[in-house]
Amino acid sequence: MRTIVWNEEKHSADIIDQNALPADYRIISLLSYEDVIGAISHMTVRGAPAIGVTAAYGMALAAMRSDKSDLNALKVQLGEISKEIGAARPTAVNLWNMLNRCLDLINTFEGQVDELKAQLLSFAHELADEDVEMNKRLSTFGADLINDGDRIVHHCNTGALATVDYGTALGVIRMAHEQGKKIHVYVDETRPRLQGARLTAWELKQYGIPYDIITDSSSGQLMQMGMVNKVFFGADRVAMNGDVANKIGSYMLALAAVDNKVPVYSVFPTSTVDVSIASGKEIEIEQRDEREVLGISLNGEIVVPDGATALNYAFDVTPNRLLTGLVTEHGVLYPPFFEKLDKIARKGQL
Ligand code: MRU
Repeated sequence: MRTIVWNEEKHSADIIDQNALPADYRIISLLSYEDVIGAISHMTVRGAPAIGVTAAYGMALAAMRSDKSDLNALKVQLGEISKEIGAARPTAVNLWNMLNRCLDLINTFEGQVDELKAQLLSFAHELADEDVEMNKRLSTFGADLINDGDRIVHHCNTGALATVDYGTALGVIRMAHEQGKKIHVYVDETRPRLQGARLTAWELKQYGIPYDIITDSSSGQLMQMGMVNKVFFGADRVAMNGDVANKIGSYMLALAAVDNKVPVYSVFPTSTVDVSIASGKEIEIEQRDEREVLGISLNGEIVVPDGATALNYAFDVTPNRLLTGLVTEHGVLYPPFFEKLDKIARKGQL
């Protein structure tokens, strides 16, 4: 199934519980916008595009459960709720990009309250379908960059689970595999939440793509030994100059790759671009609970001393100068990125 599916019987947005994988494949029904906020902030659903579409279902659920019979009162209430949903996670801009598209629909709507509720739900379905279509399109462009025999480092999880379906950077890898190219993936485990070791490995196993899990600090050594041809990762927010915020560790991976002349590609639908910011310096980096770092155990024992503290930045920014190309649904963009992103934005396609 898709990562997010509308359940017509229960009137709920049903998601795969990504905290339970790979041990347990469990579906969780989100019945209210409060459930949506909880699922996004606890990372039951995660990955920038998946978060964005879940937020759109959050708006549909908020409208559906509202007791407001007056259109303006409903519009005001939904505006307030969008701020609550938008605060669930700060870095992935897809969240606000999707909420803003819902708000455009709400603010320009004229008609009956029930009609607005129905339109918001159809719009969430539309955004979900659009995400899958974008991912397949960008994966086709990205797959052209992959040669038979390539050995690829991938960071975090950017697969079907991180989107509605198919994936972005992992979608590119999946498409190349479906085209018959023999590839091998080195899966960064992705501390501290292990999206690589848990989720990417789980997806690759299902697609039949050979892989090895590596510790996050291994890729430089593999590159020095000539074992890596390309690096692919996703994006949570892209500035107009092409700086990319992505899962913590992406920047160091890109540094090692550039030092070893290994090409680095960030893959994303343009719903991940923030047209309001010129550079990555303006991106807010989410800091998560230190217990995510301190709770790691070895042989069943917590490894850190009592009272240890931790810093837990969830993302970092890879400066555009380290990126070989940006893979989008409009094709692969090469530096300088600003003029290409700006051209797409001017056509109203961001
Ligand atoms: O904290 P997460 O797991 O939501 O972070 C996810 C990532 O960093 C992904 O690389 C990014 O969202 C792109 S997913 C297609």
